[in-house]
Amino acid sequence: MSFFKETDSSVLLIGAGNLGEALLDGMLKKGVPVSVMVHAQDKALKLSEYYPSLKVEISKKTIDIDGRIVILAVKPGSFYDIRFEGRAKAFVSVMAKIYLEDLKLSVDAENYVRAMPNLAARCAKSMTAVTGSIAYKKEALALFESIGKSVWVDSEDELNIATALAGSAPAFLALVAESLTDGAVRVGLKRSVAEEMTKGLFDGFASLIAQSHPAKIKEEVMSPKGTTAAGVFELENAGTRAAFMKAIEAAYLKASK
Ligand SMILES: NC(=O)c1ccc[n+]([C@@H]2O[C@H](COP(=O)([O-])OP(=O)(O)OC[C@H]3O[C@@H](n4cnc5c(N)ncnc54)[C@H](OP(=O)(O)O)[C@@H]3O)[C@@H](O)[C@H]2O)c1
Repeated sequence: MSFFKETDSSVLLIGAGNLGEALLDGMLKKGVPVSVMVHAQDKALKLSEYYPSLKVEISKKTIDIDGRIVILAVKPGSFYDIRFEGRAKAFVSVMAKIYLEDLKLSVDAENYVRAMPNLAARCAKSMTAVTGSIAYKKEALALFESIGKSVWVDSEDELNIATALAGSAPAFLALVAESLTDGAVRVGLKRSVAEEMTKGLFDGFASLIAQSHPAKIKEEVMSPKGTTAAGVFELENAGTRAAFMKAIEAAYLKASK
């Protein structure tokens, strides 16, 4: 994160809700010089108590962004209530469905960036897709590495696909986790044991898939006439792969509207 220490610009984070707070925590832990702007007085007090050296401001109708690196983490509906004054060094939005062209109409900045983190930002494991001004690519990726991993995509259409994959798929995987647990309960395992085992399974699988290809993992477990082959056949028979592919398409189409 040395880049941000070497520049005069500190980061101004506007909005400290679910995602904003995760970003704030990640950036502070990585030593990014960040200040935060919030709506409500009680939120400001809470943040000041929790992070004594953090500069916390109360948001005004018009926000001065001149020369700043701004991260906007408010809901899209709140965006149009804010007026921005001055020319930001970079304006980074995490809002869904507010396109770079929309940002340019309301905000003056040298660089514009859109990023789509996911729920795992809460535990500093977000997989964040980032796009926008290519001149700001390195810095934008570094910002979101404070809450996990980040990857640059080449267009907003790709950002919408990434939203379906990294943004929505935690919910799809939650369905998988729930179904596997229910399956074990159905044939006789205690729920508490099944839940514990599913958690361990996902934990171990995260490490495996980081090192190996999914097809290889499947082939290593699936022996001739074996238990896994019996289960895989049932999943194929139920059209599981096509169902997941359609789910990604549906989420992408919804994100694109
Ligand atoms: N949560 C995620 O995992 C996730 C993932 C990807 C993208 N996003 C995007 O991130 C954005 C924020 O999502 P969220 O889940 O963090 O929403 P959230 O929990 O509702 O947080 C939004 C925060 O912005 C504050 N706010 C509104 N107007 C403000 C202003 N003028 N100045 C300062 N603060 C202001 C709100 O304060 P009040 O409540 O007091 O109005 C609230 O604390 C959304 O655009 C969402 O699409 C979220």
